[in-house]
Amino acid sequence: MNSGEETASALGRPWRAPRDHSGPTFVTGRGAWLVDRNGHRVIDATSGALNVFCGHGVERVVDAYASQLRTLAHVDMSQGLSEPAHRLADRLREIPGHGDDRFFFGNSGSEAIELAVKISSLYWSAVDSRRTDIVTFEPGYHGSTALCQSLSGLPQTSSTPDRCAGSVHHLDFGEFTGPGRRSPEARSHIAGQLRAILAGSAAGTVLVEPFLNVGGGIRLPEGLLGDIRRVCDEYGALLVLDEVFTGLGRTGAWFAQEHEGVRADLTAFSKGLTNGVCALSAVAVGEPVLERLPTGSVVTYGHTMSASAAACAAASATLEHMSATGAVAAAHETGGRLLGALGRELRGADGVLDVRGHGLALSVELDSAHIAGSVQHVAYDLGAYTRQQGRTIMLAPPACLSGEEEDRLADHVVTAVRKVVAAR
Ligand SMILES: Cc1ncc(COP(=O)(O)O)c(C=O)c1O
Repeated sequence: MNSGEETASALGRPWRAPRDHSGPTFVTGRGAWLVDRNGHRVIDATSGALNVFCGHGVERVVDAYASQLRTLAHVDMSQGLSEPAHRLADRLREIPGHGDDRFFFGNSGSEAIELAVKISSLYWSAVDSRRTDIVTFEPGYHGSTALCQSLSGLPQTSSTPDRCAGSVHHLDFGEFTGPGRRSPEARSHIAGQLRAILAGSAAGTVLVEPFLNVGGGIRLPEGLLGDIRRVCDEYGALLVLDEVFTGLGRTGAWFAQEHEGVRADLTAFSKGLTNGVCALSAVAVGEPVLERLPTGSVVTYGHTMSASAAACAAASATLEHMSATGAVAAAHETGGRLLGALGRELRGADGVLDVRGHGLALSVELDSAHIAGSVQHVAYDLGAYTRQQGRTIMLAPPACLSGEEEDRLADHVVTAVRKVVAAR
């Protein structure tokens, strides 16, 4: 993997040291493949920033975006509306279970979370003004704005100086994987703790990810989301699901909540919405919440580029492309086969703590972050670009992966793990 030294420029990066230029520099992307500036081709098992769900360079999406830019790029949504924004909201209503929802748009996933929190506060201002607090879970990740970092429960967000104080109750999920993994009783323990917080505090809103993305690539134990929904119902709390990562197909369903038969009151989603062509996020708000918002109230949230006409056109084209290509079913099937292949070769192998996955979000958990870093490098040289999150290697390839690409990806990762572990 390119050390990056010869690529030094004036570029600063997010979530990195100010002068860090390590890692490859890419020049082209097509389908499931990326090419770096040395001409090295790799399968993109990161789907861009986990958002290029249908693969790079989907003509239908790029054309829709470019054509909308030429027709009408943007309208200030606080003043007027655009046809593409209307069309996108109506198109999103076609997703099963969302026929009565209203969709509010932002740019980033963090903005969608802030928007969801804002709408929840508005709800509580009408329903019970004492219920101002929010419950979130550790090790959850909800974004990088000051509010989102304070809602998150990860070491990398807990030390930020701009962390918002107060009003957030962090409930520790504990370890679901690894040597100190939680017992099956974890579910009832967590539900009990949530009950205690809702009974004894001003909390009215519960924010949770159905799949811990940055927190280690972990699907919540089966049934836990349903338990959380039931406890929310017992105490009349709003359930906000952070489907920024899982939304729109990643886990092999339109939304991960479908797997558990759970309906959130508000769902935030973003990655995959425009297939990485431009920034766009959304919050789906159910009718029961909408109808209780105070009469005459205003959602005091929005940004200059919120719901840009061009982004909405790209999103509608992405949804059309997903339906036309059966991308959600492909994520389920390809993900299942990849998990089978990785599990057969690596489960129980030296240096491997766990192999798990949900749709096209797969994780190989190794016994140290150092080993995971080396695996990422070796896999890259072999032809697979993966994500490293602590001691976990995450594979989140696009749904367009062919059978041959799928085999290559699994093979490169298995070979890399064996090679690195054998050499230590
Ligand atoms: C679950 C989850 N929530 C929120 C966010 C924040 O989204 P963004 O980086 O677009 O602000 C992310 C980003 O990775 C995420 O995975």
